[in-house]
Amino acid sequence: MHNRRPRFNCGRRNPTTKCPLDPRLACNLNWRLSFRQREPVQIRAFGGRLDRSFGVPLGVSGVRRAIISDIHSNLEGLQAVLADIASVGVDEIYCLGDVIGYGPNPCECIDVIMRCNACILGNHDQGALFDPEGFNAGAERAIFWTREQLEAPTGDPEVRAKRWTFLAELPRAKRENGLLFVHGSPRNPLNEYVYPEDIYNQRKIDKIFALVERCSFQGHTHVPGVFTQNGNFFRPDELGYRYRLSDMKAMVNVGSVGQPRDGDPRSCYVILEDDLVTYRRVEYPLDKTIEKIYNTQDLDNFLGDRLREGR
Ligand SMILES: [Fe+2]
Repeated sequence: MHNRRPRFNCGRRNPTTKCPLDPRLACNLNWRLSFRQREPVQIRAFGGRLDRSFGVPLGVSGVRRAIISDIHSNLEGLQAVLADIASVGVDEIYCLGDVIGYGPNPCECIDVIMRCNACILGNHDQGALFDPEGFNAGAERAIFWTREQLEAPTGDPEVRAKRWTFLAELPRAKRENGLLFVHGSPRNPLNEYVYPEDIYNQRKIDKIFALVERCSFQGHTHVPGVFTQNGNFFRPDELGYRYRLSDMKAMVNVGSVGQPRDGDPRSCYVILEDDLVTYRRVEYPLDKTIEKIYNTQDLDNFLGDRLREGR
């Protein structure tokens, strides 16, 4: 097993092993282009070893990119995922939205995600900006509480204003070299859920795939897995945690950092390099997050309990 700790060339005299996305460790230099680990490594995943012979690139990106989604104000989950991303070494981080809602650290999570290379608007992000619609009672209360935190007259007013500007300017979709990045679905980027069982609704799947040029990356359901144009859905474990993009269109749900709902409480995200999608699951100190939720009156205890169960 590869035990050597990777180092980032962040421009400091003593390179840090900690993620440059963390504002408390922020490096003023342009970390976006500096923290990819250049030397060949082997990376750990799911108890096995993955080598870095990722096959012939199909011209999808040429960069190694982490794609995360549905942070939901879970700072511990986010920090654990960023540490894992740091251990892999990437060129870019994209976030597919729902930075906030449900969890206890909205401001801190926004401050971190603002440094991503791209971020898409999620329905909870929009709910905090405008009147939340279509949320259950618990989620709505969490949204109103989240808004209170963002509006609280504490801290630097400039930072508070920056958070609102960041949320307000988030795009609903991003297209790039045949790839689409959305929160919900290609048909309704903000709100539509595409669940595994939707493969039995061929009309729905066909209509959505008609809007996909090559591959759509999405979140929203918090259920990771790959939908293929021929009507299949594969969980990450069924794929050996790796899926190679091909001529067949695909929709890749990257799972959730802050509130996984596939029965596995570990945070989930993907790495995309050339045509290879690799799922990563990351443990985090969820008891800490749950305790914060229990101690916040406007956040239902259920929002903590579900973290433990991954539901
Ligand atoms: Fe979400």
